[in-house]
Amino acid sequence: MRPGTARQSPSQSQPKDLAPQTAARHQTPSAPSPNPGERTPSGDVSSVSFNVNGEEHTLTLDNRTTLLDALRENLKITGPKKGCDHGQCGACTVSVNGRRINACLSLAVMHEGDDVTTIEGIGTPDKLDPMQQAFIDHDGFQCGYCTPGQICSAKAVLEEIRAGIPSHVTADLTSRIEITEDEIRERMSGNICRCGAYANMLAAITEIAETEA
Ligand code: FES
Ligand code: FES
Repeated sequence: MRPGTARQSPSQSQPKDLAPQTAARHQTPSAPSPNPGERTPSGDVSSVSFNVNGEEHTLTLDNRTTLLDALRENLKITGPKKGCDHGQCGACTVSVNGRRINACLSLAVMHEGDDVTTIEGIGTPDKLDPMQQAFIDHDGFQCGYCTPGQICSAKAVLEEIRAGIPSHVTADLTSRIEITEDEIRERMSGNICRCGAYANMLAAITEIAETEA
């Protein structure tokens, strides 16, 4: 669900006697913060605690803050990128409790107690993850903007195949799923690359799949 899409007007969501108070709470502040993670009119804030890349964090956030904005704007963890902010490009892909998600589509307050892993938690320049090294070896990027999300997705794709989770192109649902180029392409289709480095990414992911087979 896109943040904000389910928000109803006060007259739709509240009894009439509560409407004036609710409307007041949703007033636009006279001097709004340029920081989306701190875009906090009076009221409607929550405290949330989650673990990011092995570190515990507790934040007090506007309830509308997405996980992506909480990571980037509040925690200054800028590996997850904001491409579309609409769940269309995959640049914001992170892992939550071992499953990949689009961080721009998930509210931060939904993640109490969760374990979040961003590209910073996968590897560092001094200690690259094998998938990161494979992207370098195969020139799996150009500008690099989509790359953190691509690598988070790529690692998840191999784990999903090994866990027997079928995709749209899985022909046989009764047998072990083979890691084929079609399976990788289909499962990576939510990650867009405006530089068009797809063929090289596919080579990188295939190499890791074969190495870890
Ligand atoms: S920024 Fe989240 S999918 Fe594009
Ligand atoms: S490397 Fe530039 S958008 Fe993918």
